[in-house]
Amino acid sequence: MEAVVVQGLTYQYQPGGPFVLKGLDFQVGRGEIVVVTGLSGCGKSTLCFCLSGAIRHNRDGVMAGEVGVNGKNIREMRGASLALEVGMVFQDPDTQLFSPTVEDEIAFAPENLCLPPDRIRETVDHVLDLLGVAALREANPYQLSGGEKQLVALAAVLALDPPVLIVDEVMSQLDAGGRKKVAAVLERLRGMGKTIIAVEHNLEAVAFADRLIVLENGALVRLDRAETLLADRNFMTARRLIC
Ligand SMILES: Nc1ncnc2c1ncn2[C@@H]1O[C@H](COP(=O)(O)OP(=O)(O)O)[C@@H](O)[C@H]1O
Ligand SMILES: [Mg+2]
Repeated sequence: MEAVVVQGLTYQYQPGGPFVLKGLDFQVGRGEIVVVTGLSGCGKSTLCFCLSGAIRHNRDGVMAGEVGVNGKNIREMRGASLALEVGMVFQDPDTQLFSPTVEDEIAFAPENLCLPPDRIRETVDHVLDLLGVAALREANPYQLSGGEKQLVALAAVLALDPPVLIVDEVMSQLDAGGRKKVAAVLERLRGMGKTIIAVEHNLEAVAFADRLIVLENGALVRLDRAETLLADRNFMTARRLIC
């Protein structure tokens, strides 16, 4: 069963403007981790916004084609029903964090859904533990390091337990130890049946991916098993994905 189905996806930030995504077609299976990579400006974050439904906030943009998540059209979902289906961690976590404490940040979405207080407490404990950030519970999200902010943003997204996760360069601000930790979390989430689409620059950090998508100037130029692609040094060097 495919969890995410993308068909003929194009995106322009302004009507008549350049196509930032140029007719993407791909599918991601349930319980699969697909990593999207490519040079800066090739459209990775824009793709994340389209997949998560967040692109709707850019009112001028023109999105064509279809994005289906677990059989539902992303354009037809709003608010809570969308957030329960797909969660996204933005490349810049500052755009996502707004609560005075980490605990409040994680509790915000479940509170909005009026879940019982006991369930909310359990959820907060569970995701803090899952991500190994229980020590940050009382901290102010604004005062954390970039990597910690991304973990808190991921924790807040996981509080709603969506089956599909979109994570945009969550490892970019982490050291090797932090990257290992996040990789272990993503693998654990995959083990729990989550479908994960992760943007990542550092391909050494994503050896756990099932498949890789390479974007170039808004087009999908390759979609392959991770081990196949990482072993194809000629392709990777020619595309400047490795030195
Ligand atoms: N809000 C915006 N308005 C207009 N153009 C944008 C906007 N955001 C991104 N772009 C352009 O879209 C292209 C893809 O950007 P982005 O998706 O952020 O790429 P990546 O995440 O791969 O670095 C770039 O040319 C970028 O300049
Ligand atoms: Mg980006």
